[in-house]
Amino acid sequence: MMIKFTYYGHACFQLADGQTKILVDPYFTGNPAATVAAKDISCNYILVSHAHGDHLGDAPFIAKNCRAEIVAIPEVLSICQQEAPQAVCHPMNVGGELKLPFGKVRMTTAIHSSGVPGGVAGGFMIYFGDVAVYYAGDTALFADMQYIGEAYKPDWAILPIGDNYTMGIEDAATAAKWLKVKHVIPVHYNTWPIIAQDPQLFKELAERYAMTKVHIVAPGESLDMRGEALSV
Ligand code: NI
Ligand code: MN
Repeated sequence: MMIKFTYYGHACFQLADGQTKILVDPYFTGNPAATVAAKDISCNYILVSHAHGDHLGDAPFIAKNCRAEIVAIPEVLSICQQEAPQAVCHPMNVGGELKLPFGKVRMTTAIHSSGVPGGVAGGFMIYFGDVAVYYAGDTALFADMQYIGEAYKPDWAILPIGDNYTMGIEDAATAAKWLKVKHVIPVHYNTWPIIAQDPQLFKELAERYAMTKVHIVAPGESLDMRGEALSV
């Protein structure tokens, strides 16, 4: 079975196995890089890393529109519930693990502001079938990524490279090395001039410095994460 990664631009992506669709940081409205509109998205779960508009995005609308269940910290869920009071919510927090029918989600630390009073920014380890995906969220490089690599054994890492608000390409290359991942997808770049980056430069740097393969995915494009993981 395939685990299809689809990139919608910025830090918005979906994982799908033919049965379950997991949408992460659903920023469509106002996203200059988005290739589809929020109303055209269907999914079962929405994971929100923090409350900044470029991550929380259209989560409440999509939760209402396709009855998707939302996974986030309580402070982020409160914002979603104001607009989507009927939404099924899964509150969790950093360090915790949540079992869901498709596998499990663990919330990881991120060094970043949260966008909501009392909240923290996070990332996610997503265990989807037999593929383990680490999405760092918006974050600085932090040394515990080595522990995430050792303890949670991600096959893939989805890392911000845009700099200014998050890691830039050099720190993201170090992150790839510390995480010991075989596959990396860069996100959170080129949405606006302030986070302009050359993903090809990141690819060259990360592949030289870390034992990893960098997959540059254009907005609107997809790849098979499971197929790639099995082929190495
Ligand atoms: Ni942010
Ligand atoms: Mn962001």
